[in-house]
Amino acid sequence: MRQLASNQPIGIFDSGIGGLTIAKEVVRQLPQESIVYFGDTAHLPYGDKSTAAIQAYSVKIAHLLLQQQCKLILIACNSAASAAYELVKEYVGKQALVIDVITPTINYLREHYAGKVIGLIGTKQTVNSNVYKKKIDDVAVGIRLKSYATPLLATTIEEGFTNNLVIESLLQEYLSHTELKNIDALVLACTHYPIIKHKIAEFYQNKMDIIDTSEIIAQAVRAQLEYHQLLNKTANPSKHFYVSDYTESFLAGTKLFFDEMIKLEHYPLWE
Ligand code: DGL
Repeated sequence: MRQLASNQPIGIFDSGIGGLTIAKEVVRQLPQESIVYFGDTAHLPYGDKSTAAIQAYSVKIAHLLLQQQCKLILIACNSAASAAYELVKEYVGKQALVIDVITPTINYLREHYAGKVIGLIGTKQTVNSNVYKKKIDDVAVGIRLKSYATPLLATTIEEGFTNNLVIESLLQEYLSHTELKNIDALVLACTHYPIIKHKIAEFYQNKMDIIDTSEIIAQAVRAQLEYHQLLNKTANPSKHFYVSDYTESFLAGTKLFFDEMIKLEHYPLWE
């Protein structure tokens, strides 16, 4: 591993602005850390892309974050994590720490839900890759996973439909599917979904255990930095939010995902 310094930034990437739900939690738990966020809005949504395409995008973005001197690269997208975590580690794992959104979630499930039936919703890429199922089977604590792809949710959320009949009908349709019957908890395996957690809870009349992974992931980032003695101690952290394609609607959407208005900078990675 290359020598890393604690004042280097944390790099976070997603297919677009959805990963800001994770970035927000990282900033809340680790306010001293500098952040470089990259949203690949030029290729949004990743969930419907081929594994090979997502791998190529992810490796290129990881290299960009290395150029930005990141000490840790967080893959804040379940679709990218399921397609490219191993590959990203192979390419940049000797120059920076690499964390994905899936491994910390599996560790959490292993500790808290042994022997239970767990439902999971995510993009087609995340669900069809079966990565969650394989990793859950590997930890062998008797968890039975029932997953179902909910591809229209991410784009509907990006459109700002988070509190109306459109999202309610989609959830009604998706969550009533037989695959998601008789579950003990539901994992939100897409970084867009924390935004509609309240609507999902409403569907289940507030009786379902809904696992929003952002807190779990930010804790994993902290634990890794602590373990490697890389927690930043100096003040005045910087924050940069890059997108590969810039439109006003992305900018407007950031408020939904990050609470405060942030400045999106256009980074022409693919031009
Ligand atoms: N935020 C991405 C994820 O966690 C989904 C959005 C997309 O399809 O690009 O999978």
